[in-house]
Amino acid sequence: MIPSPTFSLYSTISKVYSGVPLLVSLNKDFSLPVEKIVSEAKNSKIVMICNPNNPTGVLYPEDEIKAILDTGVLVVLDEAYSEFSGHSNLNLLNHYDNLIVMKTLSKAFGLAGFRTGYCVASETLINSMSKVILPYNLNLISMKIMELAIENNNFMKDSVNKIKENRKYLYGAMQQLNGIDPLASSANFILFETENPKKIYESLLKKGILIRYFEGKNYLRTTVGTYEECVRLIDALKEIINVC
Ligand SMILES: Cc1ncc(COP(=O)(O)O)c(C=O)c1O
Repeated sequence: MIPSPTFSLYSTISKVYSGVPLLVSLNKDFSLPVEKIVSEAKNSKIVMICNPNNPTGVLYPEDEIKAILDTGVLVVLDEAYSEFSGHSNLNLLNHYDNLIVMKTLSKAFGLAGFRTGYCVASETLINSMSKVILPYNLNLISMKIMELAIENNNFMKDSVNKIKENRKYLYGAMQQLNGIDPLASSANFILFETENPKKIYESLLKKGILIRYFEGKNYLRTTVGTYEECVRLIDALKEIINVC
């Protein structure tokens, strides 16, 4: 079961492994439809939750995650963006053995090129996963880099703090723009609603700015970059909105 919209690969990968993705729509304000998830949990093998969610940036409250875990269904929490929210649900592993928390070094650590991450779960679940995982599935350099990055995480903390500052600026500046309705974000991107997503996306591209377009949706997602990049985006949006 996949509360959607979310990271599209959950659905794709589950199909690759002969799963049948059951997409459950998020509420209008992009919060979790907890009652629906709880009532359908018995029909699912895994509930896949991205927290904070991509592409909305919404951080789901711990009580809601607990309510889903209390059903006993296996919950996989993807915390790819948790560092930007200042909150992790790792502590829930002390109380639930039906939980898997996934972490990546691709986002806050800026190490996407090393293709490295890890998951944390009960010994029973890890033993089960070890039966089907490929031996030597991570290379030595990536493992070493991961160890070093986690041990020396001051660089990560500094860059997360800068991104949080820039996110604040970008969100505030977007709120001032006519026809742009940004959603408060706990991640390193901001989703915004607009009536002209395609026009805005294409006009930004012509100015050398690439943001995320979602076919058929009335919203766009931009990554929070450096302060200079955020200012450039706001200036470009101002110009585009004036001619829209
Ligand atoms: C929610 C989410 N999980 C995982 C990933 C990818 O992580 P990795 O680079 O470790 O495969 C992404 C990347 O876009 C993502 O948005």
